[in-house]
Amino acid sequence: NNLDQLYRQVIMDHYKNPRNKGQLDVEDKLTIDMNNPTCGDRIQLHLQVEDNKIVDAKFTGEGCSISLSSASMMTEAVKGLSVDKALHMSELFSEMIQGNDYEEEDLDFGDIQALQGVSKFPARIKCATLAWKAMEKGIKGNQ
Ligand code: FES
Ligand code: FES
Repeated sequence: NNLDQLYRQVIMDHYKNPRNKGQLDVEDKLTIDMNNPTCGDRIQLHLQVEDNKIVDAKFTGEGCSISLSSASMMTEAVKGLSVDKALHMSELFSEMIQGNDYEEEDLDFGDIQALQGVSKFPARIKCATLAWKAMEKGIKGNQ
């Protein structure tokens, strides 16, 4: 239907024109290397965290359209968030991607909602959560 089509366009747009792809040009950054064991694809997430806030986020690496569009959307969404909010958003994303109910609360899911359909393809869920898991790992390791 139309919504599926719109969602597919949003995903392809992030895949073809990734936001925040590249290195983070700051000295004090966290780099998290994360792979999807089911396919071997891997991404590196670069985070600049200051005063418990994600000031900047970028990513590099290789993956499928779902994993890379999700990384693009995730880096956009968490920039400017406190680390607690970013972790909470990751929990909500996890619910969304499994097809469960979730409340956006005061968080802005924006383009991220376009990945909802992935819940119908369980094998792809790990693709969609790859970047979020990297973010969680980076923040938790830094706490
Ligand atoms: Fe890679 Fe569909 S996104 S197979
Ligand atoms: Fe490898 Fe999606 S198929 S991350």
